[in-house]
Amino acid sequence: MSSTVQGGGFDRDRDDFARGARALIVLPDRGDATRDAAARLDETAGLAAAIGLVVADKIALKVRQPRPATLIGSGQADELAIRVRQEDAQLVVFDAGLTPVQQRNLETTLEAKVIDRTGLILEIFGERAATAEGRLQVELAHLDYQAGRLVRSWTHLERQRGGFGFLGGPGETQIEADRRLIRDRMARLKRELEQVSRTRGLHRDRRQRAPWPVIALVGYTNAGKSTLFNHLTGADVMAENLLFATLDPTLRQISLPGLDKAILSDTVGFVSDLPTQLVAAFKATLEEVVAADMLIHVRDVAHPDAEAQRTDVEAVLAEIGVAPEAPRIEAWNKLDLLDTRRRDALLADAARRTDVVAISALNGEGVGELTRRIAGDLTAGHRRYRVVLPDSDGAGAAWLHAHGEVLTQEQGEDVTAYDVRLSPSDYDRFTRRGA
Ligand code: GTP
Repeated sequence: MSSTVQGGGFDRDRDDFARGARALIVLPDRGDATRDAAARLDETAGLAAAIGLVVADKIALKVRQPRPATLIGSGQADELAIRVRQEDAQLVVFDAGLTPVQQRNLETTLEAKVIDRTGLILEIFGERAATAEGRLQVELAHLDYQAGRLVRSWTHLERQRGGFGFLGGPGETQIEADRRLIRDRMARLKRELEQVSRTRGLHRDRRQRAPWPVIALVGYTNAGKSTLFNHLTGADVMAENLLFATLDPTLRQISLPGLDKAILSDTVGFVSDLPTQLVAAFKATLEEVVAADMLIHVRDVAHPDAEAQRTDVEAVLAEIGVAPEAPRIEAWNKLDLLDTRRRDALLADAARRTDVVAISALNGEGVGELTRRIAGDLTAGHRRYRVVLPDSDGAGAAWLHAHGEVLTQEQGEDVTAYDVRLSPSDYDRFTRRGA
């Protein structure tokens, strides 16, 4: 029994995209001046290829007025249907958000499976998640997404879980039963995740107390984080031209000039229009980033949308709770891909700024300078500490505010936990006060 609506000539039940399926990539172009349509189509084609789809063609469609029923105009949809048949495509990937209704109507007109950007990204994350926690997070995000598209959700659940073998009580319609299954499953996943994240929190607290700074690499997908991570650690983390190769955070101990131990963390790549479900789901994983002493924002400066990507990354950082004043260095990567004129302009620009180092993670140029800059900032500068004070310690709280920069403070029962930036010597003084 399934609540899935059947369309003509294709099986809408199938939610898994067979590797090797032929796909058309469609960008409903609303004339966004900050992004290059061709680069955007290339990025989406890259995302599609990341899950093994064969990109038959990439098409930008001018959409002046989005239609509630189909997003694109009906003439455009008819023409697209012809292209689908010509290209023998089984799948059409829309580089946009589609409402469930738009998705369904488009599937009927195009006689092909239709997925939107969120669906595509969720699918990639599903394939890449390597740890138990990563898989839980992706499944939760997927269920959240599916909940809004209930007409298709039952078969998806059935496939993923291998069938539940039980259905709701008498009188329940299939959709209600589906909804209840999703709700129950989501509640269970959330509990499991809380448990995992509590355990990880304990580990992190222990590390936070260790006298080693934590450095987190962040950046747009494919910017070169893993390549840089490998360069800095000598580790062999999967670095390939595969979007989202890094989904679960990877931690390694490294030594830097004048700083014998630091912890480097490689994290999930960001992408524009990151599904909100995923940002929420990955908040736990990205706690590493929020708690880091320093962020290295790796940027692919050879990319035509480098500026827009920077804005996207900053937006996600803000959304997961990174304070704007949290110390960060931008690593302007892929210097080797630039022509001499752009390279010179960029190097001159970087030289004027203390928060930028131009590098090539691939050939190692500038990486030495980057490590010196990180070490310099960390040793000279302030570190992040977590200090818990009883509410009766007004003098202690005043001292923290006067000597450090309080980034966050959380009220507990009779205590307040401060996330504060202090110089190591001040921290030392603070912990020994009154002793
Ligand atoms: P995600 O896991 O998707 O977040 O990607 P990432 O940021 O970890 O990127 P990764 O290190 O996997 O690199 C992506 C691609 O860019 C790979 O093909 C790398 O070889 C290439 N790349 C990385 N750094 C450089 C560089 O400095 N120059 C050039 N030419 N290519 C680079």
